[in-house]
Amino acid sequence: MEAEGVLVPLSLSAEFEGSFAYLTVRDRLPTILTKVIDTLHRNKDNFFKEYGKDGIQAEKTAISFLSKLRNELQTDKPVLSLTDNAEDSEAWNEYMRRQQDLMEDGKLVSWFKSPWLYVECYMYRRIQEALYMNPPMDKFDVFKGQKTQSFFESQQAIKLLCTYLQDLITNMENLTEIQLRDNFLKLLQVSLWGNKCDLSISAGQDNSQKSSPIDSLPDLQRFILVDDSSMVWSTLVAAQGVGSSGMKHARVDIILDNAGFELISDLVLADFLVSAGLAKQIRFHGKSIPWFVSDVTKQDFEWTIMQTIAANHKWMSASGVQWKHFMKEGTWSYHDHFFWTLPHEFCDMAVDAADLYSTLQGSDLILFKGDLNYRKLTGDRKWEHTVPFDQALRGFQPAPLCSLRTLKADVQVGLQPGQAEKLSSQDPDWMTNGRYAVVQFSSPCREP
Ligand code: F6P
Ligand code: MG
Repeated sequence: MEAEGVLVPLSLSAEFEGSFAYLTVRDRLPTILTKVIDTLHRNKDNFFKEYGKDGIQAEKTAISFLSKLRNELQTDKPVLSLTDNAEDSEAWNEYMRRQQDLMEDGKLVSWFKSPWLYVECYMYRRIQEALYMNPPMDKFDVFKGQKTQSFFESQQAIKLLCTYLQDLITNMENLTEIQLRDNFLKLLQVSLWGNKCDLSISAGQDNSQKSSPIDSLPDLQRFILVDDSSMVWSTLVAAQGVGSSGMKHARVDIILDNAGFELISDLVLADFLVSAGLAKQIRFHGKSIPWFVSDVTKQDFEWTIMQTIAANHKWMSASGVQWKHFMKEGTWSYHDHFFWTLPHEFCDMAVDAADLYSTLQGSDLILFKGDLNYRKLTGDRKWEHTVPFDQALRGFQPAPLCSLRTLKADVQVGLQPGQAEKLSSQDPDWMTNGRYAVVQFSSPCREP
């Protein structure tokens, strides 16, 4: 494939035996499907209590659909069109035709032969199809239990972080510009490392935050492979006071990733941005269906704020009350768009979700959380590690943007020559073991 005269590398795929994509499709995805089936089994009595015989029937049909899906995956069957007539079904089916056109020698699009990004997203969408096709279960979140558990397992870290935030807010007026910047950088890093806590890399096993989020930062610093956070700060500062009234009006968009501790770390950062006057508006973007086990849905977002308010801890509860207030007055808002749960690379957004692209163009800074967003930003391709981040974005530049990501998939761009080689010799799994992270920034070129 070619774009602007530059060769675009191949997509990561399970067709490369032994690769991380291959191991994920072979091992991790079937494990996740098995857990989903178990969850439905375990909820059988609840379905009966709520919906009577219809509930039991729906549970049975959904389980047989999911067992069949697991078999299709494990035996590398061709992927099937979606039949649930949901808002996004046609977009999925159209994307499948696109993938089919890219196949060589008349091969069919299948689990082990197609791009990993596509088939992994497709699995989560097929799980949703099993539920859509079996009302009254269409609103059931098969991952809710795991997300809830991960939130409660991180309680200690959440309390410490909320205490830190409230202390900071109380003293905000006395902070010098340098102290403000230092605290911003700290909370940005907490939000970065919060991304360690996702549940799909661990196939749903406990992955919660146990240690003190602020105290751990100095030890983690050396694991940040690219750190563009000073550019993020300059962007925020430059966005101050540019409104026609001269008022501060910076808008920050946060493309959320995981629920649990990571979401709390994002809310704390967002609170700091508003309380410090660095942003006037925060728009959170979440998923419209349960996704990659731990990703945030609207229900998770609202539940998290309510749980934070209800906590038996003064500063945690005070934080939750403030967040509810931000939501109520519109300083914060939650948005979902079905593009976030499509398999597209983000360079497709301007054409395939033009409304979302133009909404993002109104932002002063977009923070993309997590690994999956990074894979979509870079197209999940076999880029050379020294290729600049801007180049891997392939024209996706709605506004200044920054990826905050711990590495859990074998795509990484924007490194210095020799950096990847050194890492490979020290820690062969550096791209997938979640120990390393990047803060990578890109800004659209403005006309002079
Ligand atoms: O395979 C591991 C994986 O499921 C990746 O596909 C995905 O990128 C990652 O875990 C999820 O991580 P995150 O929650 O940071 O997007
Ligand atoms: Mg996630």
